[in-house]
Amino acid sequence: MAVLFRSGTLEDLHDILQIEHLTQPDGWSENTFISEIEKPNGINLVAEENGKIFGFIFGHKIDKSVDILTFSVHPYTQGKGVGRALLEHFLNLVRSLDIDEVLLDVRVSNTRAIMLYEKFGFSIIHTRKNFYADNGENAYVMRLNI
Ligand SMILES: CC(C)(COP(=O)(O)OP(=O)(O)OC[C@H]1O[C@@H](n2cnc3c(N)ncnc32)[C@H](O)[C@@H]1OP(=O)(O)O)[C@@H](O)C(=O)NCCC(=O)NCCS
Repeated sequence: MAVLFRSGTLEDLHDILQIEHLTQPDGWSENTFISEIEKPNGINLVAEENGKIFGFIFGHKIDKSVDILTFSVHPYTQGKGVGRALLEHFLNLVRSLDIDEVLLDVRVSNTRAIMLYEKFGFSIIHTRKNFYADNGENAYVMRLNI
């Protein structure tokens, strides 16, 4: 696939929201995406092919940390390497910043995402009990040293 990885803009919101609603049970609202796109410390990437967005990753930088806040690939294109490529581009981008670590939360049941993060060197450092409002599921906090 001739996939382009670039920063997301307000023009991408329609595609982003569609993917978010298909992949995240407690997904972000349009207003949350707008405020993240407009934040000066926000870092986001979308994967685009032929003008259509089919994956995204949103994070932000606070002091010497980058947090990955949301990360999804359209269900039709999952399992084809897009998530891996998006995460790789995102990590290459943030490695150029003055940071020590990348942090994220992930549902303890989300084996696919956990395996992907582990392949990039993330490890579980902590469990947050009853973290997710929709079902009370615990979250792992995962960390990558930079
Ligand atoms: C997690 C997610 C972003 C991964 O994107 P993807 O494009 O499907 O992932 P890739 O095809 O690049 O696969 C990357 C790795 O994921 C894992 N993976 C992919 N498909 C898998 C499957 N069917 N079963 C188990 N692991 C799988 C593998 O570790 C794979 O590595 P490999 O290519 O070396 O085998 C995507 O599945 C998604 O949007 N899920 C729903 C939202 C979500 O859970 N986001 C993460 C929140 S923390």
